[in-house]
Amino acid sequence: MEMIHRYERFFLGSTVVILIIGMVAVTSSFFVNDLELPSPVDTVDPATFTSEPPFNNPGLFQVGENEYDAIITAQAWAFIPGQITVPVGSTVNFKIGSVDVVHGLIVHGTNVNLTIVPGQISEATATFDEPGEFLFVCSEYCGILHHNMAGRVIVN
Ligand code: CUA
Repeated sequence: MEMIHRYERFFLGSTVVILIIGMVAVTSSFFVNDLELPSPVDTVDPATFTSEPPFNNPGLFQVGENEYDAIITAQAWAFIPGQITVPVGSTVNFKIGSVDVVHGLIVHGTNVNLTIVPGQISEATATFDEPGEFLFVCSEYCGILHHNMAGRVIVN
């Protein structure tokens, strides 16, 4: 009976060790960095998307002392509204849906990173403790003017 060659055994063993290190690194990073997976929180009917709440009236709405809901519509190739302004220290709940195709939302300076699938409402929350301008961009290729699809959070 033929034994496993020792080099082959070495590489098999190394592969298992590297896989375990990778799984531990990915799993622990969730706890160390307090990450969570963005998930669709609700669904919307694409046929009535623009005629029913909340996306019939996108914009910024104060919902608490330092808390706002940003209802944002994503469409090729713009976010509506494309700019929101909040005071320093505000918590912003981004609630976003797409009119047409898959878009994305990355808000620079925060850990907001969403995929926006038609028919779903995506949500993420960020707190803005520093004044400044925070660019948000579309992170899924959505057509010829994808690179123009951006907006700003102004914190003052
Ligand atoms: Cu929207 Cu890329």
